[in-house]
Amino acid sequence: MNNHYESRRRGWRRSWSFVAATTGATIGLGNLWKFSYLAGENGGAAFVLAYLICIVVVAMPVMIAEVVLGSRGRSNPVSTMRDVSLEAGASSAWQVIGWLGCIAGLLVLSYYSVIAGWGFAYIGKLLGGEFVAASAQLSGDSFNSLLAAPELLVQWQALFLLIILLVVALGVRRGISAAARLLLPLLFIMLIALAIYSSQVGDFKAAAEFLFKPDFSALSQEALLVALGHAFFTLSIGVGAMMAYGAYVPDQRSITGMVSTVVLMDTLVSILAGLAIFPLVFSLNMAPAMGPGLMFVAMPYGFGNMIYGNYFGALFFLMVSLAAITSGVALLEPATSWLAQQFRWWRPAAAVVMIIVVWLLGLVTIFSFNIWQHIEVFGMSVFNLLDFVTANLLLPIGGVLIALFVGWKMRKEVLRDELYVESPQIFWLWRWLLRYIAAPGVLVVFLWSLYPWLKTQLV
Ligand code: PFF
Repeated sequence: MNNHYESRRRGWRRSWSFVAATTGATIGLGNLWKFSYLAGENGGAAFVLAYLICIVVVAMPVMIAEVVLGSRGRSNPVSTMRDVSLEAGASSAWQVIGWLGCIAGLLVLSYYSVIAGWGFAYIGKLLGGEFVAASAQLSGDSFNSLLAAPELLVQWQALFLLIILLVVALGVRRGISAAARLLLPLLFIMLIALAIYSSQVGDFKAAAEFLFKPDFSALSQEALLVALGHAFFTLSIGVGAMMAYGAYVPDQRSITGMVSTVVLMDTLVSILAGLAIFPLVFSLNMAPAMGPGLMFVAMPYGFGNMIYGNYFGALFFLMVSLAAITSGVALLEPATSWLAQQFRWWRPAAAVVMIIVVWLLGLVTIFSFNIWQHIEVFGMSVFNLLDFVTANLLLPIGGVLIALFVGWKMRKEVLRDELYVESPQIFWLWRWLLRYIAAPGVLVVFLWSLYPWLKTQLV
């Protein structure tokens, strides 16, 4: 009896570690910063609805598939794909999923680290009292002056990368999962409190309508692709990160159950962040479509006009930075573990090499906000292009390949072996979604969204 109880408890503890680590990898800037500005730019509720549908019918089945791959392969994404394709009797070309993931992860981290650097900078700005009784104008000017200073951006980005380096090099994943367990409840409490505060001082009605009352005429074809891409981005899939975390999946626990918990928490955080940001945006008459600065302009204004706002604000940006750190670790992991295992390198050395690559790539993003501000490629700034190519193209392409491989190439018995706790109905539904909805769905969205865009670019 006792033994049974003990092993049950241990099982739960392990599955909570997995859920906490994975939630740490998924909740990040994508929820707190990107979701709101994308919703703002793409017409609000119709975008949010499209995003939620993409999460449930496309991204979630792919996330389960990626975790299954990790749990089967238990190695870096490239070796995992080599081993599972060998087991499935499929071509070794499927390794491209691993390669693509490593490259996409580094590219995403190159700009992710720059934005996380803004988060660090804002901790200092708030503690220094820069926003006390601030006007929206002052808040906007402060953001623009940060963007205009490449040397500052480089320093903050370097600090962020250094912290990631330490975590990945020392292999303190356990520490991360423990920290995530502490951080998550705190993040929820803080976001709920902020949403309540901003609904009182701001225009809650306008915000709720904007986020929840769909106007489908506001949803452009391109917006659908952005919604799809963001579903992949926010759940950290298509980069090999979930394969890395899948290697730690505990036995005898339902993978679909654990993944659903993670998805639910991730979605809640995004919605709460939207409810904290938009009431302020509307009461200040700010343009919801102002772009990447939305959170960095609206929130400091809100804090600046709140009692003890300096401290709450600094705490908020500390949480943003910590959430970014746990996600940054996940972005660096696939490439680092590949380099270390492939060439039998010392793990910290592999991490250093990858960080240097990311740091140099990050300069592209930094300069796109100042000295290269005027440069446009396909009508986008260099930063927007990088974000578009990675989040909206590379991640979904990685996802389609995962769906095709797991859905069509892996044997059913092998999948059942990994998902043996699931009921036959859930298993069937998951495999059906993967085969008939996820992969074709992404391709349809690609064609539908990119065709008009390509047409305008070619003429
Ligand atoms: N999901 C993270 C976020 O929403 O901020 C971003 C991310 C992390 C994407 C890790 C991909 C990844 F592998």
